[in-house]
Amino acid sequence: MADEDLYTTVDRYLEGLFELRDPALEAARDRSDAAGLPSISVSPGHGRLLQVLALACRATRILEIGTLGGYSAIWMAQALPPGGRLLSLEYESTHAEVARRNIAAAGLADRVEIRVGRALDTLAALERDGAAPFDMVFIDADKPPYTEYLGAALRLSAPGTLIVADNVVRDGQVALGASDDAAVTGVQRFNAALAAESGVTAAFIQQVGVKGHDGMALAVVG
Ligand code: SAH
Ligand code: DHB
Ligand code: MG
Repeated sequence: MADEDLYTTVDRYLEGLFELRDPALEAARDRSDAAGLPSISVSPGHGRLLQVLALACRATRILEIGTLGGYSAIWMAQALPPGGRLLSLEYESTHAEVARRNIAAAGLADRVEIRVGRALDTLAALERDGAAPFDMVFIDADKPPYTEYLGAALRLSAPGTLIVADNVVRDGQVALGASDDAAVTGVQRFNAALAAESGVTAAFIQQVGVKGHDGMALAVVG
């Protein structure tokens, strides 16, 4: 079996073993596909990883940058204690509408708010309004401004905040030097900025499986 097929087989095995295909989450993906959204949400295994991380840092306030159909938001919001809140930022109003429907169907409408706009603008507004620090931030929107999203995430953090960023490996392209792909160069700039950031302890994980070869950065503030 080719390596990629084996990685996918292992992902499917783990999805079965851990029953990661919960009906609310499957319905959210189906609705997102039917609405024509791109199939770029996190995988079930990555969603469970985000949920574990939210529980590990006892997150009561979660910020997501890049909502799409709300799939990753549902995974993280399911980890919130009573009274907890997740705020997700999305540029495309059509994506936000699908996500709101998915989040309501998952019974999480009371805990999740989606704010529509360019994330650089909605993040600046949060800072201006003196938003309370978040316990966890998930960065997963457009890649060129990832470094600016990191800056905003740090300003909206407190000691102990966990910052997670998706897609930091991009098929290994981040390690292959100069690239013409603005997504790759954006992530290369982000990875270097995170590595140089003295205020955090950061780790990078490579991931393989149903989403191909990619990775997440995990950083704890303070
Ligand atoms: N976190 C989602 C996937 C997000 S895909 C999940 O795993 O389920 C990236 C999303 O970021 C897309 O919906 C895209 O419309 C949005 N996006 C792209 N540029 C943006 C910007 N400048 N501000 C906010 N959202 C943006
Ligand atoms: C893309 C974006 C993502 O956030 C992702 O997880 C996978 C792919 C993309 O824009 O291609
Ligand atoms: Mg992503």
